[in-house]
Amino acid sequence: MNVLILGSGGREHTFAWKLAKSPLLNKLYIAPGNAGTAKLGENINIKEDDFTLIKSICKEKEINMVIVGPEAPLVKGIHDFFIADSDLKNIPIIGPQKAAAKLEGSKDFAKEFLFRHSIPTAAYKTFTSENLEEGYTFLETLKAPYVLKADGLAAGKGVLILNSIEEAKIELKEMLTEAKFGSASAKVVIEEFLDGIELSVFVLTDGNSYKILPTAKDYKRIGEGDTGLNTGGMGAISPVPFADDVLMQKIEERIVKPTIEGLRKDNLPYKGFIFIGLIKVDNEPMVIEYNVRMGDPETEVVLPRIKSDLLELFQAVGESKLAEKTLELDPRFAATVMLVSDGYPQAYEKGKTITGIGDVKDSIVFHAGTKIVGSEIHTNGGRVIALTSLKENMNEALSSSFTNADKIKFEGKYYRTDIGFDVKHQNLNK
Ligand code: AMP
Ligand code: GLY
Repeated sequence: MNVLILGSGGREHTFAWKLAKSPLLNKLYIAPGNAGTAKLGENINIKEDDFTLIKSICKEKEINMVIVGPEAPLVKGIHDFFIADSDLKNIPIIGPQKAAAKLEGSKDFAKEFLFRHSIPTAAYKTFTSENLEEGYTFLETLKAPYVLKADGLAAGKGVLILNSIEEAKIELKEMLTEAKFGSASAKVVIEEFLDGIELSVFVLTDGNSYKILPTAKDYKRIGEGDTGLNTGGMGAISPVPFADDVLMQKIEERIVKPTIEGLRKDNLPYKGFIFIGLIKVDNEPMVIEYNVRMGDPETEVVLPRIKSDLLELFQAVGESKLAEKTLELDPRFAATVMLVSDGYPQAYEKGKTITGIGDVKDSIVFHAGTKIVGSEIHTNGGRVIALTSLKENMNEALSSSFTNADKIKFEGKYYRTDIGFDVKHQNLNK
């Protein structure tokens, strides 16, 4: 098969790395890709949401399958674009159609879905500028801290957690009447605060059957001890030590099954990944959010733990035959540590020379923001390289990633040295 992967981050390099192992693969294309994907296939310099150009690439390169990495093309309707086009309609797309991609594209839509299908989640109400005063009244019924969420996509920045009701009211007003997050905050979801520990569960589905992939936990804040600004993710671990069989069974029965069933009942065709952001409150799992794609850097720990041929699983998703396949996992522990540019997640410089990649031993180098310039590899983004290690336990995996993190050099390199800090005491052998 000729496969096209859309996207340019560590997630997409990990997909490319995994698919390159499949005997079913003929040629791999990545648009736009990075310096890492260039070694596994051919990078094509087009934007991942330029549907017209994607169509001409599919025809020219005789593409047999498209894997969509990020959410934007899905929310914009790339799957529907393919279905509606007589030349493209037989090419399977891994990623849902626009109507189901709203699970990520609209927090209000996701909350309605969760309530309609009795899936555990925080109590909420949604407001617009028309009923701002009612929003204030609703805030007064809640206890601090207050959770405000811009309804639409806001590049991961649209969730505010505020300690005082005064701040919450000011922010609500700014979101609704001053477009704090542009049109994404024309509607705001106000939610009850849930106090617990987070984890993520990933599901691959063909719309009927599903496979639950390894669990993961990511570390979103820039600073050690989960402090400072939110980033796309500074590292991740898999499996999550506290996700024992009892918790996983609750997650499957109360959340995964009703989600797949709910999609069917609501007539929302879904072929692709569902990324379920969960919080464990007193041993009970509750949904914080849905994403309609894999996470980054969660992919960098989840895919290396899948032993099965991923392309074969994707083919089965396309043919609605996922139930016939088995998912084989590597029992080892995976950890990934993200090397980022100084200043990230705010302003940072690009174009710094990266050295030392060849010295890495015992870890997998997944490129994120990198670019080939002549004979060199340069930084080309805030998140630059993820180092994944697979070992018998979490400490060994982390220590291998940290040792290799020191070998890779570029001006302004920064990484968190405490990935996994909050779960380390829970399990040292798994
Ligand atoms: P989201 O974009 O919905 O995942 O929210 C971003 C982050 O905000 C989550 O990963 C949580 O850390 C936090 N968060 C979201 N909703 C809640 C909630 N209801 N209670 C506590 N924390 C939350
Ligand atoms: N690491 C979080 C995400 O991909 O949304």
